[in-house]
Amino acid sequence: MSRDIDPAVFRETLGHYPTGVAVVTAIADEGSPVGMIVGTFSSVSMDPPLIAFYPMSTSRSFAQVRTAKAFCVNVLASDQEPFCRKFATSGENKFDGVDWKPAPLGSPILDGAVSWIECTFEDVREAGDHFIVLGRVEDLAVERSTLPLLFFQGGYGKFSPGSFIAAPDPELIQAAQGAETMRSQVEELSVRFGVNCSVLARIGWDAVQVLAANHSPIDEPFPLGHRQPLIPPFGAVFMASSPDSAIDEWLGRAPDLSDARREINRAQLDRVRECGYSLLAAGPEMLERHQAVLSAFEQSDRLPRHQRVVQQVTLELADFFFTDLVAGERYSLANIVVLVAVGEGMSPMAVRMTGLPHGMSAEEIESCIDALKGIAA
Ligand SMILES: Cc1cc2nc3c(=O)[nH]c(=O)nc-3n(C[C@H](O)[C@H](O)[C@H](O)COP(=O)(O)O)c2cc1C
Repeated sequence: MSRDIDPAVFRETLGHYPTGVAVVTAIADEGSPVGMIVGTFSSVSMDPPLIAFYPMSTSRSFAQVRTAKAFCVNVLASDQEPFCRKFATSGENKFDGVDWKPAPLGSPILDGAVSWIECTFEDVREAGDHFIVLGRVEDLAVERSTLPLLFFQGGYGKFSPGSFIAAPDPELIQAAQGAETMRSQVEELSVRFGVNCSVLARIGWDAVQVLAANHSPIDEPFPLGHRQPLIPPFGAVFMASSPDSAIDEWLGRAPDLSDARREINRAQLDRVRECGYSLLAAGPEMLERHQAVLSAFEQSDRLPRHQRVVQQVTLELADFFFTDLVAGERYSLANIVVLVAVGEGMSPMAVRMTGLPHGMSAEEIESCIDALKGIAA
């Protein structure tokens, strides 16, 4: 007799097994395209050619897929996470704005998918709260031989091969060399204002500290090379000159994907674009918590569960980002960040002041911003 299994333990344990992500598509009997995300797709037999996936018995999409004479498994690529979110949400209009072409038996092949496998139904049987669907492969092809999207511990990622030696990061080396040309100015500002002044470079989805001068009496917790993941609204300065596709991806990295939060992040980005800087006015306690989480994250192997903790503390900071100073007001700022104009093909960079004195006037802050803009130009 099996003992009672706690559903949370079941989910947590099984979540430690990674899966790929596929969209099962079909043309329902009333003629419209339908689809659902499955992580349960697997290959079963070569002779005869069989595959399987396991839909929930309550899935509305599968109820429609089942009315079709054939279905198609579309393996998603690592850049198709937005597709995944769309097709994993229950609703009528999953195919709105989605480009596809028909497979030989008519099932939708989604644009951009890595590969597709069109099948007829060999068997559908009940298995607890799911069905086991066995498909007979009728036709298949690789469309785009690229990295597939992977799902692990509730987060998305992609495969990275192991290596004997850590590959040098050419982008990081180039950014550090670029920052070096600003060294004397960064030193000079750090001394003049009695603050910490650093240069950050955007490397992938991290802001990496590539140069620092620390003349603030306040301790600087972040060493050179420190990486901070770009999660909205953090990193708005780096996104200011990015193309729309990158901005969409950045907005999609927020922990709260509600329309309301997206609007706030978007509006903040627009303000940063106009004025060329961002300010953070979080108090020391909150900053300490944020910094402790980031340090732990750096030392972790960056699993999705670690990422969620970082997303959560970043969300707490979100309300303290701003740009508009009011004359006569006093502010205790955690940082001032200004975008640096870099050459074509270089990593985006920013200059940042931290370790700022408490209760600065709007005018004092403006002079810091002007000085940073002087370096940035
Ligand atoms: C990564 C991932 C994997 C999923 N795998 C499955 C699966 O194997 N079987 C399933 O029934 N639902 C799975 N789902 C959930 C369905 O995609 C989702 O519940 C369904 O599309 C909701 O819409 P529906 O009610 O229209 O079916 C998965 C979701 C995600 C995000």
